[in-house]
Amino acid sequence: MSTAAHVWINGSLVTEGEARVSPFDHGLLTGDGVFETLKVVGGRPFAWRRHVERLAGSAQGMGLPLPSVLTLRTAVDAVVAANGLASGRLRITVTGGPSPLGSDRGRDGPTVIVAGGPLPSWPASVDVVVVPWPRNERGALAGLKTISYGENVVALAYARERDAGEALFGNLAGNLCEGTGTNVFVGLGGGGGGGGGGGGRLVTPPLSSGCLAGVTRALLLEAGVAVEEDVPLSALSSTALSKTALSSSGGAGVSEAFVSSTTRDVQPISSIDGVPLPACPGPLTAAAAAAFAEVVRRSDDP
Ligand SMILES: Cc1ncc(COP(=O)(O)O)c(C=O)c1O
Repeated sequence: MSTAAHVWINGSLVTEGEARVSPFDHGLLTGDGVFETLKVVGGRPFAWRRHVERLAGSAQGMGLPLPSVLTLRTAVDAVVAANGLASGRLRITVTGGPSPLGSDRGRDGPTVIVAGGPLPSWPASVDVVVVPWPRNERGALAGLKTISYGENVVALAYARERDAGEALFGNLAGNLCEGTGTNVFVGLGGGGGGGGGGGGRLVTPPLSSGCLAGVTRALLLEAGVAVEEDVPLSALSSTALSKTALSSSGGAGVSEAFVSSTTRDVQPISSIDGVPLPACPGPLTAAAAAAFAEVVRRSDDP
């Protein structure tokens, strides 16, 4: 990357120092905005079509106007080129734009920002904790990728205080939902007793759980490695996990798990609330990672 980061803001490519967002921007004041995080692979945005479609859905849900797909792609390509991003991550952010100091959106039109940077490097596996605050699967913003991430910030800090790398949310129905920046998959009944067994099934919460329709999640589901199924949060309790680990057959409990996201791909979960999982990565996780690698190998816009 060149030394000064270049960003696209409202139709112009400028350096970070030249970029200006109004102190009255509704995104800043209220979290009124939507975004996408994309991975750059070989100088091209991976899964462009899926990300743009999700951005359009989020914008529609928030009642936000979007620039044309062509304009967005021009902006993305300009940021990739200006920053020499052969691999990295991109963020498209669209906010409600300059507005009065309240919940009403202004009439000046949206603020559109495209920024890029290096990919975060994630460890080979991650310890997670379940946070005590539920996602509201019936809320106005459920399933939208909005910039209102305050709950995620608090949840991730809660995880960090417990030496974990990701926080998992349940929902109001008492089922598993997602992580702060990830979807979650669990292997059920795959054999405990430290062996990792085999023969279990891989499930991920349905969209009705309130989780984001993750691009990585969708690609894994379409690859046929997992099915959608509600998982009661109680299956992730220390008592349930310890029981699975001690049972020689593993029963129907959680034998392995992973989180998925654009920047993490498939990242095995090593422990939940301090209880190590019987296998990390387990056989279902390894198969999912291999299937995802194959999806990436075949196309940059699957
Ligand atoms: C809340 C949330 N859930 C899930 C995901 C994973 O989605 P994707 O695979 O599209 O990155 C993200 C990604 O940032 C997220 O923020």
